[in-house]
Amino acid sequence: MKRHLPETELARDERFRRNKVEDQIFDPRNLAMATRDLGPAQMSVDRPSVSERSRSLMHGIFVGEIQALEGAGRTCFDFDDADAPFALKLDMARQCWDESRHVEISCKLADHMGTDIGEYGESTFLYAAACNTDPVMRLCGVNRALEGLAIDVFSSMKAFGETTEDPILTFCEDWMLADEVTHVKMGSDWMRRLTENDLDRRERALEFQRTVDKVFSLGGFRGESEENPIQITRKFRELAGFSQAECDEIAALAQQAMDDARSMVAAAAAAS
Ligand SMILES: [Fe+2]
Ligand SMILES: [Fe+2]
Repeated sequence: MKRHLPETELARDERFRRNKVEDQIFDPRNLAMATRDLGPAQMSVDRPSVSERSRSLMHGIFVGEIQALEGAGRTCFDFDDADAPFALKLDMARQCWDESRHVEISCKLADHMGTDIGEYGESTFLYAAACNTDPVMRLCGVNRALEGLAIDVFSSMKAFGETTEDPILTFCEDWMLADEVTHVKMGSDWMRRLTENDLDRRERALEFQRTVDKVFSLGGFRGESEENPIQITRKFRELAGFSQAECDEIAALAQQAMDDARSMVAAAAAAS
């Protein structure tokens, strides 16, 4: 087995279709989300598109779980112990176990929601973030940024399950949420431990985390206002090793992303 497997060599069967992440992120339908689809939070039950949105989101989570499993597995194997201590690899191995369970839960949840594997495309952004040659970058890009996002998504979907009185959705989200808090906490602890004596390296990794956080706040997808379908979950983020200042920073990034989307939509409307 070779070290540092590129995303082009990931094993997928014929059911999976690959999306380019930039197509998904810069899709004008997503950019317009903040201003066009008016009203309170988009996961609220009174929206006609909510079923489609939640199915698409949960399919995205399902492929994210596969890639989280692959990424954590790679970190167990890609590095010598001098670069990634054995105890970190043990934590990553434990994460593989959790992510495998999340893949199984996501498959059953897809059945429950009436979604087929491959019904939506797969972008491999998460795995790409897990290909970094510096394990600290992986911890910041994957465990802290993307699994931090998973905390926000699972918490919001759990609330949606409660609102729609769907105990299967509620329990699935609640169980995965508990694991993700552990994964983000491992990311926070190891990031701090590995960069204790190299604050420049820590800052570079945190900058990568900010970039990823900004990308996934695009179009008002995540935030703290009623308009954001996915709510930033401060309570669980703090349990996972985020400081209050870091939560404030993510909220500010999300607000900036929503303001940018509104400006782009307004500019496009003025030009047409
Ligand atoms: Fe997961
Ligand atoms: Fe995870």
